[in-house]
Amino acid sequence: MRIVVLVSGTGSNLQSVIDAVADGSLPNVEIAAVGADKHDTYGVERSAAAGIETFVVNFKDYAERSEWNHELTEKCLSYEPDYVVSSGFMRIVGEEFINAFDGTYINTHPALLPSFPGAHGVRDAMAYGVKVTGCTVHIADAGVDTGPILRQEAVVIEDHDTEETLHERIKLVERRLLIATLADLAAK
Ligand code: GRF
Repeated sequence: MRIVVLVSGTGSNLQSVIDAVADGSLPNVEIAAVGADKHDTYGVERSAAAGIETFVVNFKDYAERSEWNHELTEKCLSYEPDYVVSSGFMRIVGEEFINAFDGTYINTHPALLPSFPGAHGVRDAMAYGVKVTGCTVHIADAGVDTGPILRQEAVVIEDHDTEETLHERIKLVERRLLIATLADLAAK
């Protein structure tokens, strides 16, 4: 199963996938490429260091969002992936991309969807005052963090949590769920 992984930042969840592929925990998964929407992300840097092909489709280089979206779609298609994984990819992709990867675009989100979608799922859950949040791995559709849920797990919010401590705890679960999801998909 060939995957392209999209990142916008540090790519620590991506690293867990790279490690799982390297140590044989995901025997049928190949990371065909890692892409980012901006230059100088640690996610791309660590992928290159692992010998994985990387690319950047820099959002800021395009006057129109649709042009960026077209380029990203074409670039991802060029690797002929079975799945594209958004792992901390902080851009909403457009219709052309969603149509090209209909049902094969996977997203991870650090909250229990449909609660707290958007860029600040951890912060918003804390601000609301919920006592339990978590993470979700789902097939992404054209909405913001919407689409069929594949896996989900709860994480309890402790009184002493900050956004950072809670997000780190959620990410530990997120990594495990992402790897389990990829294993499920590769076994199909
Ligand atoms: C993850 O929690 C992801 O769901 C969110 O951003 C985080 C990515 O972290 N959108 P990293 O880049 O994998 O470290």
